[in-house]
Amino acid sequence: MRIEDPKIVSALPAPAVELKRGASLADLTSLGIGGATDLLRIRKHEKIPDLLRLLDANNIPHKFLGGGSNLLVADGELPWIVLQLVRPEPEVVLEGNFAYVDAAADLGRTVTFCAMNDLGGMEGLIGVPGTVGGALRMNAGAYGMQIGTFVREVKLYRAASRKIETLKGSQISFEYRHTSFAPDDMMLAVKLELPSKPYREILKGIRICNEKRRSSQPLGQKSAGCIFKNPPGASAGRMIDELGLKGLSVGDARISDRHANFFVNVGKASAKDMLSLIADVRERVRAGYGLLLENEVVVWSA
Ligand code: EPU
Repeated sequence: MRIEDPKIVSALPAPAVELKRGASLADLTSLGIGGATDLLRIRKHEKIPDLLRLLDANNIPHKFLGGGSNLLVADGELPWIVLQLVRPEPEVVLEGNFAYVDAAADLGRTVTFCAMNDLGGMEGLIGVPGTVGGALRMNAGAYGMQIGTFVREVKLYRAASRKIETLKGSQISFEYRHTSFAPDDMMLAVKLELPSKPYREILKGIRICNEKRRSSQPLGQKSAGCIFKNPPGASAGRMIDELGLKGLSVGDARISDRHANFFVNVGKASAKDMLSLIADVRERVRAGYGLLLENEVVVWSA
């Protein structure tokens, strides 16, 4: 979708909000799949309520993009524009055991920065790609930990009230790859409370997690991490593997040979290819195990 009306373009609060025309979502997502649309890059959180009022008043649908690492976007010209926060400098400010982190901050860099300042707890998240905001929204986790454990406050734009609000950690429910945020809430910043731990010790944990991840996940390839959530008490990856589906492809969308819950784009996979592979695997797991796999990857359909 393109913002055609020059009146709307001139009403955008530049330079706090920058319009990038015809951005390719394939370039903004780790899967490398997705069509084109106008992108608004936001430098100042305070501008968001006015900006969204402007978009709503002009019937311009929009979606919020984080790091694009858990996302499958439709092909072709997209029927909504995309909003994305620009990473500020600095991304993280520390105060004792509290880390104040911008939602646009890179998750891996945040974990490392906190570690270097003797704040641990998040070792498992080191290899998880994406932004802190994205991790927060889905309660990203790995190796027995999840980000929600450390959240004390979240600043967010709430679509329901059309205001920027601050929620206490206790007002948010964090479950396995799920939170109580509304789909159209936009994460802006988070206050984390992290346990003190010497850097050398944290580094040991980070190295162990990195090694586990390198040996079991296709890190160099284009993917969105795990495609399906694990059903209670079962592993989606193991079931897909047991069904002998590693290497199964639709076009350039392919089930990784290394980890069966990672579907990789080995060339020019389209969203249609990837969605058809997902539907096929879901059906085969249902037939084989009687379990209906739920997507972990977020799908933006056209
Ligand atoms: N397994 C297989 N074949 C495979 C993949 C896995 O047999 O192709 C077996 C493994 O040998 C292991 C079991 O299945 O016995 C579980 O596998 P793994 O330890 O890789 O964990 P997972 O349940 O597949 C989860 C998260 C990952 C996270 C890892 C490590 C989900 C959906 N996935 O994977 O998160 O990195 O644990 O904590 O919860 C993600 O969320 O995108 C993601 C990659």
